[in-house]
Amino acid sequence: MIVALLNQKGGVGKTTLALHLAGEWATRGKRVTLIDADPQGSALDWSQQRAREALPRLFGVVGLARDTLHREAPELARHVDHIVIDGPPRVAGLMRSALLAADLVLIPVLPSPFDGWASAEILSLLGEARIYRPQLAARFVLNRCGARTVIARETAETLADHDPPVLAATIGQRVAFADAAQSGRLVSELDQDSPAAREIAELCAEIERIAP
Ligand SMILES: Nc1ncnc2c1ncn2[C@@H]1O[C@H](COP(=O)(O)OP(=O)(O)O)[C@@H](O)[C@H]1O
Ligand SMILES: [Mg+2]
Repeated sequence: MIVALLNQKGGVGKTTLALHLAGEWATRGKRVTLIDADPQGSALDWSQQRAREALPRLFGVVGLARDTLHREAPELARHVDHIVIDGPPRVAGLMRSALLAADLVLIPVLPSPFDGWASAEILSLLGEARIYRPQLAARFVLNRCGARTVIARETAETLADHDPPVLAATIGQRVAFADAAQSGRLVSELDQDSPAAREIAELCAEIERIAP
């Protein structure tokens, strides 16, 4: 399966969720490659930090911030079980290419009515991609949900009848994600039983039910 984390907005959790999804699959024995399609290369930085800390390699990270991504991805996919694409901010050509490569698009959004989750740009690009790939699946993922889940619940309700729909699994606002990122780790490597680690496992399980 090729999963792309896309949203032209920065800071919504594309890189965080891409790394953790790839990591979750890898720790369950799947062969995974993460494509860093962001010219800033944050996922590559993470894997470099991981190497510096002498932590075991969980999955390969390749930098491929090119409009030809959709041509390269199927070749890379042949050698692994899953490809996870960490999407670029604001780059329409690259975003189009990622949309053409993916089987499933995950759009991370913050649980705020002001976040503009129903972001016009990504939705219109998605509509375009579906002309060529009608089977392309897409879901919103609520990230950084606060302890007070009222807003999250309201956002989820607003998105319930939406296309793309929102995943039931949500990710909380948790410092573990920032701590893990800094040291080239995953939240499950800091504490396997933490709420953050459990949320990632649930997210992964729900994704597998959509596109096994
Ligand atoms: N659920 C979360 N809880 C706390 N911090 C988070 C969470 N998700 C992301 N972050 C932090 O927010 C920042 C932006 O996340 P990132 O994944 O880099 O977003 P994007 O790739 O969409 O720009 C990072 O510093 C990251 O550690
Ligand atoms: Mg990023």
